[in-house]
Amino acid sequence: MDRIVDELFDPPVPRDELVHPQHTVNATLKSDIVKPAEHMLENTKASLGTDPIPAARYFSKEWAEKEKISLWTKVWQMASWGEDIRNPGDIYVYRILDRSVLVIRQRDGSVRAFVNACLHRGLELCEQHTHQAELKCPFHFFTWGLDGDVKWVPSRWDFPQLEQGEPKLPEVRCEEWNGFYFINFDKSAESLKDYLGSRFLEQWKDWDFSKRYKAAQIEKRIKCNWKTGQDAFMESLHAFSTHPQSNGGAANDTAQYDIWPDSPNINRMITTLGISPERMDPRPTEPEVFEWICSMYLPDVLGTEEGKLKSGETARDGSAWIARKAYSQNFGVDCSNLSASEALDAISYFIFPNMMPWGCLSFPLVYRFRPDESGDPDWCIWEAMLLLPYSGERPPSGPVIKVGPDESFESIIELGQLAMILQQDADLLPGTQRGMKNLADGKLILTESQELRNHQAWAAGLYCPAP
Ligand SMILES: [Fe+2]
Repeated sequence: MDRIVDELFDPPVPRDELVHPQHTVNATLKSDIVKPAEHMLENTKASLGTDPIPAARYFSKEWAEKEKISLWTKVWQMASWGEDIRNPGDIYVYRILDRSVLVIRQRDGSVRAFVNACLHRGLELCEQHTHQAELKCPFHFFTWGLDGDVKWVPSRWDFPQLEQGEPKLPEVRCEEWNGFYFINFDKSAESLKDYLGSRFLEQWKDWDFSKRYKAAQIEKRIKCNWKTGQDAFMESLHAFSTHPQSNGGAANDTAQYDIWPDSPNINRMITTLGISPERMDPRPTEPEVFEWICSMYLPDVLGTEEGKLKSGETARDGSAWIARKAYSQNFGVDCSNLSASEALDAISYFIFPNMMPWGCLSFPLVYRFRPDESGDPDWCIWEAMLLLPYSGERPPSGPVIKVGPDESFESIIELGQLAMILQQDADLLPGTQRGMKNLADGKLILTESQELRNHQAWAAGLYCPAP
């Protein structure tokens, strides 16, 4: 009885962590048999201190209004995946808050963006993703070409003001990176390339998404602020508790977080897999880590010679080999030379304010978070694009799958094992949004290094719209 009472009031706790963990991503990547590109071997070891973050910025209507006026109108934001508007006349409708933009593939193959409103009475020219030869307003048939020039005016004789000049559809800046089209409402903003910076462009030169196709796009409306949602993906600290299945072989508590002073709009996280997590007590052994990787990537090899570590082989080396073999089989592309890191690790980048592209095959994702049309800071839209390699001709994009606020990701077969991970995150977000309103002093306290990216989001100022 005493033992039961003791456990009730003093349950076992994870291993004491007063001592900084020993494993480093940098040492692992440097000792991998197939090393990644040079930039992956860089470790910035930056600190931005530990100033608390005012929680109200995640739920106050005043703060959301500031973001609406001074952030979303001035920043480069990913609007469309180019393959979704592959052919001339393909149109993607991008919505941010109560604004809407048409991203249009032109006859010459270029992409331009225009305000989605008829200049006559304001009706939206397109409601959703479509293919059109021209932009005809359904109200009175006022018509523009795909290039924004006027094509036809109803009762032109009754618009004498047109003699002063034809009303072109207002154009929105639109520039491309890695197959994605970004828009910016701010005519005076720097170019997208300058915004991303040469360091980022160089780091991504080998992660060419023209060699991927969009197998699926998941879109979920979820009851949390857009920053509450994406903040949860900027650190691996939560994985030990939120994704306990990953403790079989992911070094979640020793991930690497990089920021660069000359590249304020991007940051990076690398979480190694095929490594025994130090926080586990007892820690998984090398054969156990390898078995865990096999169970995820190639369960058929379990119980066979292939599913056993060779003498002298590390779990990391064996795991990389298994992952490469699984990708080659699943995608029909040769992955035999893929670096261990790109095969196994979670390599997540963040482009302010809201795009998260991953440079690895273990998590072949791009996330995007944004406030929804209502402008209510307690709600956002969370999208996950699944971008997979292919052989031969690029397959057409897969479906957009909408997941309601009360629906689970786990019914989406396209996500495979990622579905459980996403749902584990989704389960916690509405409660986080509610709970932070209860904080007595209204401040969030963050770790220094593992939440460096979250600190940077505030420090760089893009989360802080001009007053
Ligand atoms: Fe997570």
